Amino acid sequence: MASYDLVVIGTGPGGYVCAVRAAQLGMKVAVVEKNATLGGTCLNVGCMPSKALLHASEMFEEAAHSFAKMGVSVSAPKLDLPAMMNFKQQGIDGNVKGVEFLMKKNKIDVLYGAGKILGAGKVEVSGNGKSQTVDTKNIVIATGSDIARLKGIEIDEKRIVSSTGALSLDKVPEKLLIIGAGVIGLELGSVWKRLGAEVMVVEFLDRILPGMDGEVAKQFQRILEKQGFVFKLGAKVTAVDASGKTLKATVEPAAGGTAETIETDVVLVCIGRVPYTEGLGLKEAGIALDNRGRVQIDAHFATSVKGVYAIGDVVAGPMLAHKAEDEGVACAEIIAGQAGHVNYDVIPGVVYTTPEVSSVGKTEEELKQAGVAYTSGKFPFTANGRSKVNQTTDGFVKVLADAKTDRVLGVHIVGREAGEMIQEAAVLMEFGGSAEDLARTCHAHPTRSEAIKEAALAVGKRAIHM
Ligand code: FAD
Ligand code: NAI
Repeated sequence: MASYDLVVIGTGPGGYVCAVRAAQLGMKVAVVEKNATLGGTCLNVGCMPSKALLHASEMFEEAAHSFAKMGVSVSAPKLDLPAMMNFKQQGIDGNVKGVEFLMKKNKIDVLYGAGKILGAGKVEVSGNGKSQTVDTKNIVIATGSDIARLKGIEIDEKRIVSSTGALSLDKVPEKLLIIGAGVIGLELGSVWKRLGAEVMVVEFLDRILPGMDGEVAKQFQRILEKQGFVFKLGAKVTAVDASGKTLKATVEPAAGGTAETIETDVVLVCIGRVPYTEGLGLKEAGIALDNRGRVQIDAHFATSVKGVYAIGDVVAGPMLAHKAEDEGVACAEIIAGQAGHVNYDVIPGVVYTTPEVSSVGKTEEELKQAGVAYTSGKFPFTANGRSKVNQTTDGFVKVLADAKTDRVLGVHIVGREAGEMIQEAAVLMEFGGSAEDLARTCHAHPTRSEAIKEAALAVGKRAIHM
C-alpha cells in the first residue's frame, strides 16, 4: 500500500498550493482529484475562464465603442463566439498543464478518483471502477465549494444556468436574467452585456455587492446602469417556467407582495456558493462540520480528527482563490512544525468588471459598527492625469485610517485597473503602515496609482490635485 506524509484531497488553488509547499518542505505528498483535470473550480470553471471571457468581451466592447474616439478607425467588430470560447479553453488548458507540471516538478503523486477519508491516516481513492487505499500521516481536505441552488428552480446549464453554464453559452442570449447582484452576477453579466445581451439583475437586498463598501457599491451601480444594466433590488425570483420558448420568471418584492412575470432567454442563478463535502465520509470519520456545513477547524486548520486538516472554500472565510492558496501554504508549514499564518484582516477582494472594484480591510460600515473612530480620504479618477488623458475617469479611491494612530484600516477602489492597484494597499497594511506612509511614498507619474497616494494625502486634507 502506498504511504505518504501528506495526502491532499482536491487540487484547486488551496489543494495544489498546499501540496507544493509541503513537497518543498520535504514531505512525500499525493493529491487526489475526482475531476479529469487539475486546478479545481478556479482554473476550470471559475476565476480563469471568467477572466478570459471578461478580457475578450472587453476588447470587443472597446473595438466597438472606444477605438473611434482615439482616432483608430476600424469596421464594426463581429463576434465569433466559438473562437472566443476557444480562446477561453486555451487559457484553461494552459493553466491546468501548469499545475500538472508543478506536480511533476515537486514529485507529487496525482491520484485521479474520488477521495474518501476512512479515518485518521487512511484515504480511499475510487474512480474508473477501481479503488485503492493509501496510508498517510496527514490529510488536508481542500474540496472547495459548489453552487448554491434555489428551491424549485432547476438548473439545466442550458437555459437556466449556474456560473458553469454561463461560461459556455453557445449563443448570446437576447435577454439574460441574473439572480443575485454579487461578484458572479456582475462579472458574467458584464461579459454577456458587452456581447449584446440585455441584462437584468434581481437582487434580494437593497444594494449590490453586499460586503463591499457601501459608497463604492452605490457608485459602481450607477456606472453599471450607464452601461445598460437594469437592477431590480429588494426583489426575489420565486419560480421560472421553462415550458415555453422563452423562460417566464416570477419576480416578487423581497418582503412579499405583487408578483410580476419577466420573460427572458437565459436565467443565471448566482446566489452564492456552498461548501462541498459530498462523498468524503466526514460523518463516519467523525470530522465535525459547523452550522453552515463547512468543515470545522481551529486556528491551525486542524479538524476534530487528529492529523486531518481543512483549507479553502470548504472552511469558513471568504471564498477566494488567494485565501485558499495562503491557507494551503500556512497549513503545510504548520504540518511541518513551522508557524504558518494567514492574516485574515488583509485579504483583498476584486470584481473584474470594467471599471474594476477592489477592496482590502474594513469598510466604512464595518468601522462604524465596531465603533472605531476613523478618518477618510477620497480621490476621484477625474482628477488623475493618466485617467484624464486615457478618458477613463470613472470611479475613485478611498483610504480609511484610524483617527488616532493614522494606521490604514481599509482601502476601496472603483476604477480601471483597481484590481492591480489594490496590492500596494495590501502590502502597506500587512506592515501596519499609516496613511502618512502611503502619502509620502513616491509614486511614478503618470499612473493611476497616484490616486492612491492622493487619497492618502486627502486623509490629512492635503491632496494636491483636488
Ligand atoms: P476548488 O477550487 O473548488 O477545488 C476543489 C477541488 O476538489 C475540485 O477540483 C474538486 O473536483 C475536488 N474534489 C472535491 N471533492 C473531492 C473528492 N471527494 N475527491 C477528490 N477530489 C475532490 N476567486 C478569486 O479569488 N478570484 C476570482 O476571480 C474568482 N472568480 C471566480 C469565478 C467563478 C465563476 C467562480 C465559480 C468562482 C470564482 N472564484 C474566484 C472563487 C474561487 O474559484 C474559489 O475560491 C477557489 O477555487 C477555492 O479553491 P479551493 O482549492 O478551496 O477549492
Ligand atoms: P455572492 O455571495 O457574491 O453574491 C450572491 C448575491 O445573491 C448576494 O448579493 C445575495 O444577496 C444575493 N441573493 C441571495 N439569495 C438571493 C435570492 N433568493 N434572490 C436574489 N438574490 C439573492 O455569490 P456569487 O456571486 O454567487 O459568487 C460566489 C462566490 O464566488 C463569491 O462570494 C466569491 O467568493 C466567489 N467569486 C469571486 C470572484 C472574484 O473574486 N472576482 C468572482 C466570482 C466568484
